[in-house]
Amino acid sequence: MRINIAIDGPSAAGKSTIAKELCKKLGYVHLDTGAMYRCTALKALRKGLAMDDEAGVCRMLEDTVIELTPDGKVFLDGEDVSKAIREDDVSMRASDVSKLQNVRRDLVKRQQEMARAKGFIMDGRDIGTVVLTDAEVKIYMTASARARAMRRYLQNVENGIETSDVETLEAEIKARDEQDMNREFSPLRKADDAIEIDTSDLTIEEVTERIYEIARPFLEAEEAK
Ligand code: DC
Repeated sequence: MRINIAIDGPSAAGKSTIAKELCKKLGYVHLDTGAMYRCTALKALRKGLAMDDEAGVCRMLEDTVIELTPDGKVFLDGEDVSKAIREDDVSMRASDVSKLQNVRRDLVKRQQEMARAKGFIMDGRDIGTVVLTDAEVKIYMTASARARAMRRYLQNVENGIETSDVETLEAEIKARDEQDMNREFSPLRKADDAIEIDTSDLTIEEVTERIYEIARPFLEAEEAK
């Protein structure tokens, strides 16, 4: 038997990087829910829809297929958009579109279906509070805005994604935090039963190890079943 692990936290806190590392260690599958909001924003942008056109965006989603592959690629209606959804302007648009209640309803339903079989590490903003309230392990990952901007900058450079400078990225990250934490529906917040980890001064290995240790008793209990 397997468990599910929920990782929430603000933008660029390292959630996806850590989730991928942990997946390698556990043989689990990573589900990056932010990629689904990014796909929604990208398709809406391409269609010329306004990010607050809730009815239009929801209609668009009715015939939208979003696939997250186990090797980390993202397909939107069959097109590999893994890089396109990481562009800086898609980030803020994804945050805009994620404010819409019916968009969330649609994507949350997809996420819950995806994770039903267990054995997933899902990261986002509302995983512990809404999507997988029964996840065995819930982590709330934070880091200073400066540390997050620096990491995002290096990640963009490494992946060949056009990037703003660190100061601009930091301002964008703060604006997105503000919007994601203060929206009306499912705002980003730590679930009461989540364990908070500040990753500002920790390496990827240290954070991975820390979560592994938190998960270990649950993994062992499931193995014993
Ligand atoms: O994790 P990310 O930066 O790729 O997410 C992009 C945006 O999507 C983020 O600013 C808020 C939104 N989001 C959300 O509202 N709920 C999630 N579970 C994941 C992302």
